[in-house]
Amino acid sequence: MAKSKTRYQCQKCGAVYVKWSGRCENCHEWNSLLEQNLPDEAAVKGALARGAISGKKLDAVSINTIEPSDAGSRLGTSFSDLDAVLGGGLLLGSVNLLAGQPGIGKSTLLMQICASISVDRKVLYVSGEESAGQVKLRAVRLGASSEKLHFASSTSGNDIAKTIESAEYDLVVVDSIQTLSLAEISSAPGTVSQVSNCGNLIIRAAKASNTAVVIVGHVTKDGALAGPKILEHLVDVVLNFEGDRYGGFKTVRAVKNRFGSTNEVAIFEMGHAGLSEVKNPSEALLSERQNTDGSVIMATIEGTRPILVEIQALVNPTNFGYPKRTASGFDLNRLNLLIAVLEKRTKLKLQDKDVFINVVGGMRLNDSAADLAVCMAIASAAAARKLDENIVVFGEVGLGGEIRSTSAPERRIAEAKKLGFKHAIAPATIKDKFVLPVKDLRSALVKYMNNK
Ligand code: TYD
Ligand code: MG
Repeated sequence: MAKSKTRYQCQKCGAVYVKWSGRCENCHEWNSLLEQNLPDEAAVKGALARGAISGKKLDAVSINTIEPSDAGSRLGTSFSDLDAVLGGGLLLGSVNLLAGQPGIGKSTLLMQICASISVDRKVLYVSGEESAGQVKLRAVRLGASSEKLHFASSTSGNDIAKTIESAEYDLVVVDSIQTLSLAEISSAPGTVSQVSNCGNLIIRAAKASNTAVVIVGHVTKDGALAGPKILEHLVDVVLNFEGDRYGGFKTVRAVKNRFGSTNEVAIFEMGHAGLSEVKNPSEALLSERQNTDGSVIMATIEGTRPILVEIQALVNPTNFGYPKRTASGFDLNRLNLLIAVLEKRTKLKLQDKDVFINVVGGMRLNDSAADLAVCMAIASAAAARKLDENIVVFGEVGLGGEIRSTSAPERRIAEAKKLGFKHAIAPATIKDKFVLPVKDLRSALVKYMNNK
């Protein structure tokens, strides 16, 4: 084996340096270099140079002779929306990464999935974070009581891979990859080398034994997966669990899926008996609505699903020189841009006003069609005028103040009709009697913000 030497490896991008420095030259991350014992690179390179090509010829076959991994090998999770996100359930032999903030409900969701799959299949739940007693407590709460559901507490990547390889279980849950380590590697759990090597072993074992594996991954406060990005490339499916930790809706969406599309989304709510799917989010989101000024209902699309959400704006005079802008559930840069457009293209003056935007229910809007609704909410709050309560709004706002068309207008309109709305303020390109067409921001405000 090659001699090992002390090296400094960036925990974000994996670049290796001989000397420590405060900033990674490669990815420009601060304070990410960590001392590690890595194999001597010169020795490895020397071996490669000497050995010429030492592999053997691949056994390639015609693609027509290959059997597809059959569709029957999917495990249903008992959550129909989550199955849709996965492309029809957990595929045997696939490795799925579930990433989310601490406390969002990853362990809860996985225990519920284990409970339902273990009714007729053998399932193993491995925890490196919690003791058997703690896991049992949660299992009891969630009603997981099958004989076929096994539990083990371990932080050894090797032991877990060996267990997966034995093909005893159809589903193995590993909670979480950041706690695992390999004895051969000297660095601490959660570092680039530990996470990627443990990940690699587990993936190899899953493929060899045709076991479905779900790996839990922690994310840092800015939403990136803690540890290396490499893991996201290695696994088959990356699921992001997002939302408010305390109450509100939580969403699971696939940011990568080798066996399905990435535009489905499952919406969950945490209750006393674990997570449950929210089948009719619009109704739940609008149930506590009071039509005040600054409140606008927007028809958004989450994945392929239309949802009506309330956007609230508050506009106050600024106390000290610099106006404050805050957005919850909406991109702050986008808000600043929209405020600039409002100031330039309409008569609204906001330079001495604090502007706050809130998307009700813990939803995060990533939809450019929210622009018009946000603008109208700000205008409504600034002028203390209400928008008609039977109107939904959607449309993208351009820098010239023009209203641009959006994706899937028919689905947004259908959802609004279903919930009893009478009209939609929307881009003029949509031909529908339901739509009150608007061409630019100014005319939209003049026309619909004038009634007291
Ligand atoms: P958990 O699943 O442990 O989060 P993670 O594994 O992502 O860190 O728990 C999430 C939170 O959910 C926890 O604070 C307690 C709460 N919870 C409930 O409200 N109801 C329940 O039935 C359970 C099991 C947990
Ligand atoms: Mg957990």
